Amino acid sequence: MSDPYLTTALVTGATSGIGAATVRALAASGRRVLAVARRAERLEKLADETGCTWFAGDVRDVDAIAAEIGRFEPDIVVNNAGVGHGITGLAGLDDAALREAVDINVLAPIRIAAAALPGMKARARGHVVNIGSIAGLHTLVSAVYGATKSAVHMFSQNLRFELVGAGIRVTEICPGRVASEFYQAAAGDETKLAAMGRSGITELTPDDVAAAILFAVDAPRHVNVAMIEILPTEQAVGGVVGKLVEAWKNGEGP
Ligand SMILES: NC(=O)c1ccc[n+]([C@@H]2O[C@H](COP(=O)([O-])OP(=O)(O)OC[C@H]3O[C@@H](n4cnc5c(N)ncnc54)[C@H](OP(=O)(O)O)[C@@H]3O)[C@@H](O)[C@H]2O)c1
Repeated sequence: MSDPYLTTALVTGATSGIGAATVRALAASGRRVLAVARRAERLEKLADETGCTWFAGDVRDVDAIAAEIGRFEPDIVVNNAGVGHGITGLAGLDDAALREAVDINVLAPIRIAAAALPGMKARARGHVVNIGSIAGLHTLVSAVYGATKSAVHMFSQNLRFELVGAGIRVTEICPGRVASEFYQAAAGDETKLAAMGRSGITELTPDDVAAAILFAVDAPRHVNVAMIEILPTEQAVGGVVGKLVEAWKNGEGP
């Protein structure tokens, strides 16, 4: 820890992928970590491995998360929990899934930040890290997912502006394709996942993204790493269509 003034961290979506990797990295850096997600048995295992404490809950249950924030007083909040509902297209997406996407990807990080800010302001230190996506910055494949992550982008931009002078930093991490359970969860079942195609590229690992998060939180206190866009070397956005989309359209996934 180069600047150990931010010593406690809450991470949502800690049972898998980027969240679990971030808990491991933050704990390895010597910080106290509160891991939050719904699957208790996975959290228990993560706690055995890393020494983190955990809370099994849904990020939509803001009262429960706010109570944990009150007890734990995190310096760092990593808003990572997210879902890819709608990634196979808006047509046919049921209303419940649409609402879940907005509630989990947009409302929850905003409400969790709102619950953490009074304590951070009182202590005059804090760091909100929001996991966005390249889908929130560029035109990709999903209207709904892109819209939710775009909301995360503008929330992060404006929150940083609101908090200038309060000693609280806001970082947005925008990954490209990451090898995690995300697409499996988004597709819903193996058949739909197979129909979407695999990327066929060497994807980012959750550890790659956790390293970017650690870079931001370990920065000296006068440095706010505002945004990190991090892509697999084999993925790029641009041209008429992204290369990944092109591959999907040609059915070139393995
Ligand atoms: N994978 C990618 O290619 C990619 C690219 C860019 C951005 N991202 C973003 O990165 C973040 C993490 O994704 P990932 O790739 O690590 O996916 P993942 O492996 O599917 O992990 C998602 C995590 O979110 C948690 N979660 C989902 N809904 C929740 C809820 N209602 N309450 C509490 N926790 C909930 C899940 O835990 P439980 O089910 O146990 O609750 C799980 O721990 C997401 O915000 C995603 O949008 C992913």
